[in-house]
Amino acid sequence: MPTLHWVGKDKVVNHHHEVPFRVLNKVSSFRAPAGAPANSTDNRIIHGDNLEALKSLLPEFEGRVKCIYIDPPYNTGNEGWVYNDAVNDPKMKRWLGQVVGKEGEDLSRHDKWLCMMYPRLKLLHRLLATDGAMFISIDDIEHANLRLICEEIFGAQNLLANFVWQSKDTPGNNAVGVAETHNHVVAYRKSSAFSPNLQDRNQAQIDTYTNQDDDPRGPWLGSTLTRAEHRDRDYYAIRNPAGVDVLPPPGSSWRRPPAAMKRLADEDRIWWGKDGNAAFPKEKKFLSEVKVGVVNQTWWPYSFAGSTRNASAELKAIFDGRKPFETPKPVRLIEQILQLATDENALVLDSFAGSGTTAHAVLKANSQDSGNRRFILVETEDYADTLTAERVRRAMAGFGVGSKTTQGLGGGFDYYTVGEPIFLPDDNLNEAVGTEAIRGYVAYSEGIPATDRATPENPHSPYLLGLNRETAWLFHYEPDRSTSLDLDFLSTLRFGGDSGAARPGTFIIYADRCLLSAEFMRRHGIVFKKIPRDITRF
Ligand SMILES: C[S@@+](CC[C@H](N)C(=O)[O-])C[C@H]1O[C@@H](n2cnc3c(N)ncnc32)[C@H](O)[C@@H]1O
Repeated sequence: MPTLHWVGKDKVVNHHHEVPFRVLNKVSSFRAPAGAPANSTDNRIIHGDNLEALKSLLPEFEGRVKCIYIDPPYNTGNEGWVYNDAVNDPKMKRWLGQVVGKEGEDLSRHDKWLCMMYPRLKLLHRLLATDGAMFISIDDIEHANLRLICEEIFGAQNLLANFVWQSKDTPGNNAVGVAETHNHVVAYRKSSAFSPNLQDRNQAQIDTYTNQDDDPRGPWLGSTLTRAEHRDRDYYAIRNPAGVDVLPPPGSSWRRPPAAMKRLADEDRIWWGKDGNAAFPKEKKFLSEVKVGVVNQTWWPYSFAGSTRNASAELKAIFDGRKPFETPKPVRLIEQILQLATDENALVLDSFAGSGTTAHAVLKANSQDSGNRRFILVETEDYADTLTAERVRRAMAGFGVGSKTTQGLGGGFDYYTVGEPIFLPDDNLNEAVGTEAIRGYVAYSEGIPATDRATPENPHSPYLLGLNRETAWLFHYEPDRSTSLDLDFLSTLRFGGDSGAARPGTFIIYADRCLLSAEFMRRHGIVFKKIPRDITRF
């Protein structure tokens, strides 16, 4: 497989491993006012660089996100927007300097963009569920580069489609005198376990079904019964309602073998035209019998997915006639993605959130099918609260006045910032992040599946992190004193009897020190792990 090389690649391919895990601090919560419709409330908006935010989401969400939509900077070179669309943003320059080093100063605009995207895509790939899919908006500036790095990260066999969205309904010329009227939506699945939902049939498609013979089975569509190729088996005569034996035209044949054709005739599924003597009979395909939807197509006209003009109008309606963001996407574009890739309980992630269109589309999708889709948005700019979160608040609570009032969609979210790292530079735990965050990280690093994780309120031990039939994980940690793995500690554990769980074969126990003999631990299936912290202060 061809792979793409660029200056700085060697510094970023494994960079996602070096990004520190940080705590996500809940700063505030928003709930739609009483009386608003029911909608999902377990949603998050995170203010921070998505590299750190995505890494910090891994302990809770690795492999759990069903649908990712991102709309990263297109690298147009436009530095006059509210966010910087080139990669010359001071924050990005600083980051490139740290990660790529001196070489970073000579990077071309495309090198920088690739250095920025690669580790983020790696983390997004890890967050995606086995049966999930990721959709990326992009234009021609970075489309080819994006495709190549996605092939590397997702595998060429996991390309779902390159959707072409007709973004402009009023084209204008670009610099070389060609009106660019489309964007791409590049889509990759995590694995073959993903299968796209069919698209809802629209009214125009339904209207192509008619009922010319008042068939009690309802409207039908005539489908050709001839094939433009001769096959001996399917070249035979069938009798029309006028009693004439009809052969397929020379050089062609019927689409059905004789037995199948007889069954169609017996069930009155062949249409010979109003006079019963058409030269080309049709098979009647009943609307009531076809699949509920239609197969997705790669061409998304603005009549289907909205246009950038629609997106601006949507934002203006929400912000009292102002347009506080230059490049929003239309809600319908993301609704089409959700229709294709989510079920009613899907978790949806957008780590380049901008004006929060993805959250709006999730709320709308829920309001249409009473679903409980949830969203996580990440936005690095300071408008994460005043624009991203504010748009979502208004979508939930309702907006506009008088005849322009739009009812709220209901729901709620929690607003987070990216906090301190879980580890200090000396590789010891940063205990300032609190016990809950530390427990969550240790459970993740032990690979305890979400279904086996335990809270301190359980019948076995307040130090239990996770439990299944084979293994119990215990984190014997106190912030203000050192702890021991000894007989006293073991005597506090409650397994067997009326505790509701048999004693598992293996105990993985974290503490500051171990006072048990190696022989005793081997006999009782105990594995000791030292908590990485400095206990000389106690
Ligand atoms: C093209 S806009 C997204 C527009 C969005 N789809 C909408 O409909 O409003 C890209 C957004 O990604 C944000 N962004 C860029 N780099 C980021 C990073 N490293 N972490 C989080 N957000 C970032 C930008 O600030 C900008 O708001």
